[in-house]
This record gives sequence, C-alpha cells and structure tokens, in this order.
Amino acid sequence: MRTPIVAPSLLSADFSRTGEAVRTIEAAGATWLHLDIMDGRFVPNLSFGAKMVADLRSSSSLFFDAHLMTVEPESLIDAFIEAGADAITFHVESCVHAHRLIDRIKAAGRKAGVSLVPSTPVEAIAEAMRWADIVLVMTVDPGFGGQRLIPRCVEKVAAIRAFRDREGLAFDISVDGGINLDTAPGVVAAGADVLVMGSAFFESRDQSALIEAVSALRGPYSSQLA
Ligand code: DX5
Ligand code: ZN
Repeated sequence: MRTPIVAPSLLSADFSRTGEAVRTIEAAGATWLHLDIMDGRFVPNLSFGAKMVADLRSSSSLFFDAHLMTVEPESLIDAFIEAGADAITFHVESCVHAHRLIDRIKAAGRKAGVSLVPSTPVEAIAEAMRWADIVLVMTVDPGFGGQRLIPRCVEKVAAIRAFRDREGLAFDISVDGGINLDTAPGVVAAGADVLVMGSAFFESRDQSALIEAVSALRGPYSSQLA
C-alpha cells in the first residue's frame, strides 16, 4: 500500500549549511529532497541553480525532486538532467510545448512533472497530465516559503485525483506550499501522494516524528488496499 511521501524543501534550510540540511533530511527518514529553482522572473525571488543540485548530488542518494519556477524551462532542462535531478517539474504557465518538454525529460530517464499555480484551472493541464509522471499542485502562490495554504487548491487536488482514476493514469500528485501537520490530513484525503514541506520540516523540533505522522495518513482508497 502506498503511503504519502514527504519531500522536505531545501528552500527553508540555512543556505550557508546546505550539506548539513541534507544530512538532517536523511536522518529524519525522508527519501525525497525538494529543490526549488527560482529565476526572479516567473516568481519574484531567486534561489539557486544547477550547481547546487550537482554539488549536493555527489553526497546524497535521496530522490532529487527539482521544481523549476522559471520562464523558458526548456532552456534549463539539460543543466538539471546533467546535475542529477531524478525528477524535473516545470510550470505549464511558462511553457507552450509541454508535451515536447515532458518527452525530453523522460528520454533522459528522469521523471517529468508539470505544475500549476493557484490561479490556473485544472482544465489547463488536462492534456499534459496524460503524459506526466508527477502533477505538482501549488497550494500557495509560488516564490516564498512559509505562506498559508489556499483552501481552494485542495479542491483542485481532488479534481486531479478523480481525473487520474477516471482516465486510468498513474502520475503522482504532489502538493507544495503551506503543508504542515494541520493541513496534511486534508490534502492526503483529497488524494495527494507527495507532500512538499519547507518551513514545517525545518521548524519542527522532532523531524522524524513529523515524517512518521505524515506517512501514517491514509488517502481516498486506503480501506480497499489495507
Ligand atoms: C514555494 C516553493 C515551495 C516552498 C514551500 O514557492 O515552491 O516548495 O519551499 O515552503 P513551505 O512548506 O514553507 O510553504
Ligand atoms: Zn516547490
């Protein structure tokens, strides 16, 4: 039976000690590392680039989940493949040819993700969802950690889950923004498989317990699978 995956986000770590932050994530029992790439154009903030990913890659076997919040993601894909990202997620709002980009990422043997911001309707990614490995639902306006989840976005998770099941698709549904112990049960109940956590993870006093608590949550069809 699938259990929810927690993907701690490096964005909330102390950037002067990123290697140490990755060790903290590993020690807490997480298996994914979420890497927020911000270009100061698609979102009003800058974070870090492919070199950071490559440098961390050399000392970690976590699943590297790169989230590109950038314009023209097609110009950056090769650098993140080269850097060793296991999954590369880009925004449909910044890419006309999502199908082509998904194909390129998959051809490199990586998981391909598509993401949508809160004001983009689910219908706008209906076609891209047919080819994606991951659908990342932004539950805050992207750009900064530590914001509050926008409740309407949880309904989008449920709609995407229903679409996936109806169409017999197999992508993972990821949620990103304002996820903590209070909001996690609701997004898992709506159908989320992967929970990105920035500030909630790094501000937690017991990170192992946090991972365990979220992993113990059960989604829509758990009773049939248990
Ligand atoms: C926001 C980023 C998130 C961020 C989440 O633009 O995409 O991944 O790190 O941070 P929290 O969990 O603090 O909302
Ligand atoms: Zn993110």
